[in-house]
Amino acid sequence: MSDSTKSFTVMATRLMPEAVETRFRAEFDARPNDDDTTLDREALIARAEGCRGIIGCSTEKFDAETIAGLPSSVEILSTFSVGCDHIDLEAAKARGLVVTNTPDVLTDATADTTILCLLGAARMAQNAEAVLRRGEWGRWSPRGMLGTDMTGKRLGIVGMGRIGQGVARRARGFGMEVMYHNRRELPADRTEGATFMADSMAMLPRCDFLALTCPLTPETHHWLNAERIARLPDGAVVANTARGPVVEDDALIAALESGKLAAAGLDVFTGEPKLDPRYLDLPNAFLLPHIGSATVETRNAMGFRCLDNMAAHAAGADYPSRVV
Ligand code: DGY
Repeated sequence: MSDSTKSFTVMATRLMPEAVETRFRAEFDARPNDDDTTLDREALIARAEGCRGIIGCSTEKFDAETIAGLPSSVEILSTFSVGCDHIDLEAAKARGLVVTNTPDVLTDATADTTILCLLGAARMAQNAEAVLRRGEWGRWSPRGMLGTDMTGKRLGIVGMGRIGQGVARRARGFGMEVMYHNRRELPADRTEGATFMADSMAMLPRCDFLALTCPLTPETHHWLNAERIARLPDGAVVANTARGPVVEDDALIAALESGKLAAAGLDVFTGEPKLDPRYLDLPNAFLLPHIGSATVETRNAMGFRCLDNMAAHAAGADYPSRVV
């Protein structure tokens, strides 16, 4: 604790994990959100009155209008996420609002979730579990609940940032042949042996499995569309742990319905938490409610990073992870 943080008024838009809240309240002039309500624009702006910092989450939209409405006292937005697609960074920059995020600390948990989505979808884990829970587990059958192996198959990764690299590292454990498509080729010591494919259209026909781990940007919006799905081999498996809008829902749902794709494992959705209801009726969709980083260790580390960024700002020190 330091003098610079104790008098620094910070509101948190959501209730953070216990260890993080404890440190938050001890170190800062903290305005927590004890009932963990989701704040709309008006409530957020009203609660920010007199605050110098905001700890926000991807559950709030910091668009240009919200940023313009923030009290002039607010100097920094420390987002409890690595993704910043809920923040208008240009508007933040123009207003002189510092934005920080939480890279690195959630890489492993999110890469694990990507493997969970690939494997859960490939093995139709959702159906097997539902059968058991319904008490319908009959006799073992040689033809029962057949999925497909990941071992030895070909995986394409779209977005070879830290999380994509973590997925490549894990995929090696499955003996997969890994390719990646990225804005630029990475130095060999960061590719985990994966092959760079500058042309995604050339990569897709070689992907038995496809993992989407890229940030959501205007270039990646609806990246997985009907045209790209058509390039995948029949029976491919897709996982999305990036952001929902990286996928064009109509195209993905049509491909899962027709059997063009064997399965999809999805942790993120357009409009979440209100996902397209058609996904819920698809037996070949393995669905998770955006739990990519949801482990105690990782969420603590994310929260501590938010506080470290905030404390650095209060002390005029270097930020551990500044975005703008
Ligand atoms: C992130 O950190 O970006 C996670 O997806 C949570 O929003």
